[in-house]
Amino acid sequence: MTDRYAVIGNPIGHSKSPLIHSAFAQATGQDIEYTAIEGPLDGFKATVEAFIAAGGRGMNVTIPFKLQAFEIATDPMESARLAGAVNALKFEGGRIHAQNFDGLGLVNDIQRNLGVSLAGKRVLICGAGGATRGAILPIAMQKPALIAIANRTADKAHGLKRDFAAHATLQTGGYDELVGERFDVVLNATSTGLSQADLPLAASAFAPGALAYELVYGKGLTPFLKQAQAAGVTRIADGVGMLVEQAAEAFEWWRGVRPDTQPVIARFTVPLV
Ligand code: ATR
Repeated sequence: MTDRYAVIGNPIGHSKSPLIHSAFAQATGQDIEYTAIEGPLDGFKATVEAFIAAGGRGMNVTIPFKLQAFEIATDPMESARLAGAVNALKFEGGRIHAQNFDGLGLVNDIQRNLGVSLAGKRVLICGAGGATRGAILPIAMQKPALIAIANRTADKAHGLKRDFAAHATLQTGGYDELVGERFDVVLNATSTGLSQADLPLAASAFAPGALAYELVYGKGLTPFLKQAQAAGVTRIADGVGMLVEQAAEAFEWWRGVRPDTQPVIARFTVPLV
């Protein structure tokens, strides 16, 4: 019997998840159906329950439901607990298991696909919202020399330092506090990739040979990537690889089979111009 999976969000029309998971299923010979569900803004829980009642086995969760998905989880894994947000659910024996694979997808893309090891590196994360929360633990596990978090609202960054104190040592503050500091890996986890706003990030923040990584995907050269290029950075990437890698983690969690991500990343990569 065909097992049913779906991505739920609102809006959801733009989601590439059905295409990605269908490609994984085809390549690995898994008999699944993966659809996109536009969840009503006031009816997330009811929609998930209806999907489970109809035999659904798992779901990906995207904006704006990642926090609500955490609330309905009966068994949140550590990745979800620390992020306070969920991007993958598994329905099994009346339980709702929850994971957040976004950060792991990011780390896998940086290390395996882009070939940049995080061990011993100085890493700067711009932004202190949900995307940053998901990224901190997987990055910390790679033992970088430093994880700095800069945010427009410095207090929000300081809040992360407190929340993650048991798991990671974070340097937190506003962008103006980065004066004179250089980083090997600079990640843009703010929403400026979507809004096309500039970040108040000094050109000097990029160390020679740095990687500049925009977590948003499919937006071409975002203001952050343009700032990096203007600062002389030649290694730039957007989040398409992160998207496919987090999907691969969910697929393996659900199906027990690891799909090859390379052909799918190649299919969805849009040149950064
Ligand atoms: P997400 O869940 O995608 O991380 P979020 O929780 O709304 O989204 O967080 C958005 C992040 O982008 C925040 O860190 C926000 O900074 P503030 O905490 O100061 O609001 C950051 N951000 C949004 N627009 C920005 C801008 N124009 N300049 C700098 N940072 C910006």
